[in-house]
Amino acid sequence: MPFIGTFSPPGDKSLSHRLILMSLVAKGETLIKGLSHGEDVLTSLAAFRALGGEAREEAEGLRVKGLAGTWPRFESLEIDCRNSGTTMRLIAGILAGVPGRYILDGDDQLRRRPMERVAKPLRLMGAKVSSNEGRPPLIIDGGSLTGVDYTPADASAQVKGATLLAGLLASGPTSVTEILPTRGHTETLINHFHGRAVIEGLTITVCPGLLTLPPVFDVPGDPSSAAFFLTAAAMIPGSKVTATNILLSPGRTGFLKVLNRMGAEVTLTLTSDNPEPVGDVLVEHTGPLKATEVTPEEIPSLIDEIPMLALAATQANGQSVFRAVDELRVKETDRLMSLRHQLGALGARVNAEGNDLIIDGPTSFILPETLDSGRDHRLAMTLSIALAAANAKVPIIGAESMAISYPSFEESLKELWRN
Ligand code: S3P
Repeated sequence: MPFIGTFSPPGDKSLSHRLILMSLVAKGETLIKGLSHGEDVLTSLAAFRALGGEAREEAEGLRVKGLAGTWPRFESLEIDCRNSGTTMRLIAGILAGVPGRYILDGDDQLRRRPMERVAKPLRLMGAKVSSNEGRPPLIIDGGSLTGVDYTPADASAQVKGATLLAGLLASGPTSVTEILPTRGHTETLINHFHGRAVIEGLTITVCPGLLTLPPVFDVPGDPSSAAFFLTAAAMIPGSKVTATNILLSPGRTGFLKVLNRMGAEVTLTLTSDNPEPVGDVLVEHTGPLKATEVTPEEIPSLIDEIPMLALAATQANGQSVFRAVDELRVKETDRLMSLRHQLGALGARVNAEGNDLIIDGPTSFILPETLDSGRDHRLAMTLSIALAAANAKVPIIGAESMAISYPSFEESLKELWRN
């Protein structure tokens, strides 16, 4: 059955985290409209409050008061980052420069994720950071920092973001040179909040200084959440879905290019551009999808959409290859393995060769008794769309994890799926 209609997904998760956490190093007050209410963003909000930040719900949005320069001094404060890697990594960058001892911990999934990638640049800046063999808990003794020039080994917006945010509290400029461009929200927001981040090719240089919050910030819809229904529309005959008011920064929209290359019709209508492009996206099924090769250079711009693109590839004619997707191994689950097992359980031909994901399509799905998301929100929603494509109902273990990024996923599904 097709997906038809118009919807607005929740506020962008990456921007929502940054708006809350960057208020720790900003002065003034802001009204954030359309903030994501996903559990991950609520985790950042709880951390902000635990650090003494003031935020209150109003009819139009969340009013947040910047805490810059008025941080309470904590002898030792434990911050529970629950399931949120973005909270832990970005806040580590900020707290490295704030006097006090901070213990950043999380749930069993987060405790398995690599944190040395943020600890390393922070130590080079003079921070005292220890971890449990590279994993949480992270113990940070915040203090004075010195700017550095750093080239992270991984293409990671979180590592870049943590280093640049530490740079705001350092003496002297801090530069991060990326091996591939990743989402640029941290540097864009630094400039939007009257700080100074100079972007020259793959190098971003931030000058020290506190930020100033704008009076209002409208958070556009999350393209990574929109991707579930837009990709479903590309895959399923008779479908036509419009997502309105979506963040359309180039670092986030790689999946739309891939869907277009696979044969779907994709129409973008830009509606605003400050500080990042926003608009409506229409995706229409116009015929069977074609297999495609996704290059290593494209991966950072679609990293969170790979589960859905992999599902689309199971329905495309030919062999699709996603090159150099090793980053998937360190997400909420080892997504390379869990995609292989769960799409495999539906009868799809999915293989991993080295760091490449290889999918032979098309597949008509067989139905197992259950599917298991491993509490990986993006996998749970991908499996739910796979079942809709098969017009079938099978219990998905760990489906409650959808609330991490898209608490209203089931409502959107009901709205758009003409079953
Ligand atoms: C994010 C960056 C990406 C992405 C994650 C959110 C961000 O992670 O997968 O969901 O908001 O900066 P990495 O920085 O680890 O690649």
